[in-house]
Amino acid sequence: MTSPKINALRLNHSLEDLGRIGHTDQGMQRVAFSDFDVEGRAHTMELMRRVGLGVRIDPAGNIIGRKDGSVPGLTPIALGSHIDTVPSGGKYDGALGVMGAVECLRTLQDEGTATRHPLEVLVFTNEEGTGFPHWLFGSRAMAGSLAPEDLTAVDHEGVGLETRLQAIGGDLSRIHEAIRQPGDISAYLELHIEQGPSLERSGTPIGVVTGITGRAAFEVEVKGAANHAGTTPMGVRHDALLSASRLILTVERIASELEVCRVGTVGRVSVSPNATNVVPGTVGFSVEFRDVESKALTAAEAEFRRNAAMIEDADGVSVEIQALPPTIPAPIKQEMQDLVAQASAGLGLATERLPSGAGHDAQAMAAITNVAMIFVPSIDGISHSPSEFSTPQACAEGAQVLLDLLLLADQMD
Ligand code: GLV
Ligand code: MN
Ligand code: MN
Repeated sequence: MTSPKINALRLNHSLEDLGRIGHTDQGMQRVAFSDFDVEGRAHTMELMRRVGLGVRIDPAGNIIGRKDGSVPGLTPIALGSHIDTVPSGGKYDGALGVMGAVECLRTLQDEGTATRHPLEVLVFTNEEGTGFPHWLFGSRAMAGSLAPEDLTAVDHEGVGLETRLQAIGGDLSRIHEAIRQPGDISAYLELHIEQGPSLERSGTPIGVVTGITGRAAFEVEVKGAANHAGTTPMGVRHDALLSASRLILTVERIASELEVCRVGTVGRVSVSPNATNVVPGTVGFSVEFRDVESKALTAAEAEFRRNAAMIEDADGVSVEIQALPPTIPAPIKQEMQDLVAQASAGLGLATERLPSGAGHDAQAMAAITNVAMIFVPSIDGISHSPSEFSTPQACAEGAQVLLDLLLLADQMD
């Protein structure tokens, strides 16, 4: 059976159109809950309506577009990703999964091809967790794995979740209604750019994802004593920025030198009062460790806390470490990997099996359904950057694999 062919040019136009919303000289700024995010969501909902989907927003702010299947009683196959970006990000991360899904639905509509299962396109809220530091928010809400701290959190501007959700059509008071139970969704399929160099290096068009990294993330506050930069002798200072710097260096050491876990990053720092002639009094920063093994994350956290206690004692500062809800590594089932390989082989596209070092909504969805992920090459392995790029051909090949994968999954009950 030859499957319907997606329209590569149309997909590329969709990516370009969405990529204009939030585009600036410093890259994409479509951070979750921002005005650009709201505009991108409205644009995407309109596209979804045009391909005949019934569109609703669940209480977690997830956009859900749905089309009925031909066999009564079957549960839906879901396709999706996110459209929020990191600050100064790129226009493919997440967007490809959503626009690829919309292109698949458009192709089926054009060809008049009905599926046995209902189909859903899912656009998850705040995947990145940058504006509001609780990532995979929408997918974890759908999987029923939000922690109490997710619900009471405030963002870096001090605004709470209730207000943020209201702005995108969600409703914190009904958040539990966003939960889908195991068995409610027959499979979740996500197309994404690789965001790393493996596929480009090996010249392989399609990546079959074998598992998704876990993450342990923290908000850290170092409190010292603000004082006059001209009159306070060096020996009596409690400079919060110096102590924070020492602690930040341990994050690097834990991952690189000690190899306790695969990677460790401090991506956000704020200094108070942040003035040239004041010894810094307080410093806040983010920390995240990632690994495919949960025990490596536990060990990295223990080592980080041990170092923090040592720096407290040595520098006479206090260090408060607030753990964000952890994200457990998610292996992808062999049969789902094989289905991606089968869809690719049917199209004559070579595959490479590889783990994902980035987080994805699929890892939250893995708690309630079978998930599969398709990767396409990222030029120079760059992502979370304005230079992020995947060729129109790579994007089209990924979307075609997504469609063929969907049609294979549709044969199953
Ligand atoms: C999400 O994109 C992440 O891996 O940070
Ligand atoms: Mn992403
Ligand atoms: Mn991302």
